[in-house]
Amino acid sequence: MDISAIRTLIGDDLKAIDAMILHRLETDVALINQIGHYIINSGGKRLRPMIVVLAARALGYQGSAHVDLAAVIEFIHTATLLHDDVVDGSSQRRNRDTANEVWGNAASVLVGDFLYSRAFEMMVSVQKMRVMEIMAHATNRIAEGEVLQLLNCNDPDTSIDRYREVIDRKTATLFKAGAQLGAVLCDAAPAEEVALGDYGLHLGIAFQLIDDALDYGASDANIGKNIGDDLAEGKPTLPLIRAMEVANHAQRNRLREAIEKGGERYIDDVVSIVAQTDAIEYTAQLARSEALAAKEALTAIPPSSYRESLAAIADFSVSRDI
Ligand code: IPE
Ligand code: IPE
Ligand code: MG
Ligand code: MG
Repeated sequence: MDISAIRTLIGDDLKAIDAMILHRLETDVALINQIGHYIINSGGKRLRPMIVVLAARALGYQGSAHVDLAAVIEFIHTATLLHDDVVDGSSQRRNRDTANEVWGNAASVLVGDFLYSRAFEMMVSVQKMRVMEIMAHATNRIAEGEVLQLLNCNDPDTSIDRYREVIDRKTATLFKAGAQLGAVLCDAAPAEEVALGDYGLHLGIAFQLIDDALDYGASDANIGKNIGDDLAEGKPTLPLIRAMEVANHAQRNRLREAIEKGGERYIDDVVSIVAQTDAIEYTAQLARSEALAAKEALTAIPPSSYRESLAAIADFSVSRDI
């Protein structure tokens, strides 16, 4: 099972989600429409909505609220990207100029806020208190993660534990919430909600580990973003933390200086030092073990093509180059 087979399996749901997203983007404020359509139509992978749908279907869901909740999760994801690109000073996403590059920081932040709050309007309509609980908690944790990351910036002594805390919160939280929502829609037993939540959490960590590895190893064209953005911001991600652990004295000092000072001028040096260590393979190996843990969590729910698809998304997350 690969991603395109999964897209076929749940093709009708994905079409309904895209229609829902477009419908719920509507407002009479023209700039919101413009920026909203720009980012939504720029071709994200829609992994998180797929997880909501697959989790719900895997537990036998037959209603239609999974479409609303999948759109909610994609709105929140999109809002965090708008904010993240401002904070990271990024100019490319999904092979296009970022919204902040085109319309400026203020417009990006404010449209991000619109998407966040629209998502909350939409989730209220599902009329389930557990959905509100999960999403209120998740969005709060994501914000904590972004602030924790800010505190780690330019600090070469950031530990692996502190790094992990950041990616757990800023990225894995939304994957976890999406998978849990599938269970909540089915009024599933608590053990199934926990299992799907664990799946999402491990998957999200694997996904961000690979994202951080790609920032040093991929080509811009593949990931649709500028590589080296993390370093330019002085972000101590695992590839750098590991490289500092195993590099020689001179290399370690160069990496420390690059993290402390940030900026683009260190990129070639840092990429070359990272490549001389096992840092990328080390990061990928950790991602693979997280993907395995994600798949193990799935054994607590009944087997089906939907469960298989969830497992395939875990595999995709660690083998991807996009
Ligand atoms: C990007 O997520 C943000 C991270 C958590 C690394 P995706 O890679 O899922 O973004 P799109 O939606 O496919 O562009
Ligand atoms: C993930 O962090 C961003 C969010 C969870 C919002 P990154 O900063 O690594 O994401 P990209 O690389 O810009 O997509
Ligand atoms: Mg970023
Ligand atoms: Mg990144």
